[in-house]
Amino acid sequence: MVNLRIPGPTPLPPQVISSLNKQVISHRGKGYEVIHKNIVMNLQYFFQTENPIYLLTASGTGGLETGVVNFFSPGDEVIYFTCGEFGNRWSEIGRRYGLKVNQIKFPEGTGVDKEVVRQTLKKTKKLAGVFITHNETGTGVLNDLFSIAPLVKNHPSQPLLLVDSVSALGAVDLPMDRLKIDVLITASQKAWMASPGIAMVAVSKEAWARHLLSKMPKFYFDLSLYEKFAQKNQTPATPAVSVLYSLEKALVLMNKQRKENIFKKHLALRDYFRQQLKKIGLKLVVDEKNASPTVTSIWPPEQVDESAWRKLLREKYQTVIAGGMGGLKGKIVRVAHMGFVNKKDLDQVITAFKKSLKEI
Ligand SMILES: Cc1ncc(COP(=O)(O)O)c(C=O)c1O
Repeated sequence: MVNLRIPGPTPLPPQVISSLNKQVISHRGKGYEVIHKNIVMNLQYFFQTENPIYLLTASGTGGLETGVVNFFSPGDEVIYFTCGEFGNRWSEIGRRYGLKVNQIKFPEGTGVDKEVVRQTLKKTKKLAGVFITHNETGTGVLNDLFSIAPLVKNHPSQPLLLVDSVSALGAVDLPMDRLKIDVLITASQKAWMASPGIAMVAVSKEAWARHLLSKMPKFYFDLSLYEKFAQKNQTPATPAVSVLYSLEKALVLMNKQRKENIFKKHLALRDYFRQQLKKIGLKLVVDEKNASPTVTSIWPPEQVDESAWRKLLREKYQTVIAGGMGGLKGKIVRVAHMGFVNKKDLDQVITAFKKSLKEI
């Protein structure tokens, strides 16, 4: 069987696969409304929030665009703290919509430095928003929002804090309300063990007040429409009903496990996998302090071409892993361990690594 270890889409548990084997239903009927309501309620538990969560039929990038267009007006001054390709992409969305973007870049493989955040915020007088990637999937870095969020929220111009947790939420502890995160974004195909196709966006009261003033052009992602339809547990346009079947089922399974156990499992798998990789002599891209609980990046041994190695792993060992992105394209490989994954899956990766490296 294929060991799918790319950072999304991630494998589905058998119960989730079965949930997809169903006729579609009307998105304007009671049956749909029950599913929608269940999903939002279960998501609030994992987002650790009482805020509304909107279900968008879009990939994670649609969620990121939603964050840009709903709370700002062209010319608004914002800061992006970035440390990899997904941060770069989100900054680019901001620029294309006319935000005045100050992008503070950290080297790929490192995390957002709290002291630099503190100094940058101190120097910035006018600030409408701060954008940060919680888990930079391109490098395998987890940013410590427990220390960064309070710095942002204490800024005198009360910027909104927008967080891309596309590849961590559901697997990593990120209490939205406690950290006063204003906009929190994730996507169904990552740690949620569901099919690709749904972005989820939670919005604080403060962010909603800004939404009402926002002059950014928007239609499909206009959250006013989503809010109006959410009153009936519906969405403004036709949702990906089948994907929602899978998300509803996955959330039932996740809820049974309880969030604390899921968070612990991901930390334990990360530590175990890093340890095993080191044992077979592989070098890791990210240090202990910043290592992501959902994706690990690895330097291939010298003389090993990463794309030839991945091809061999895929074709001979049915192990599908990802390459690098941005400045690390062609230089690293990445292995995901989020959602439906256990120690055995990672042992298989280690065995495949050992064997393939002898051959290549
Ligand atoms: C951190 C992060 N942000 C955004 C995205 C974009 O999500 P999508 O590919 O679903 O549009 C991804 C996808 O891997 C991601 O990992």
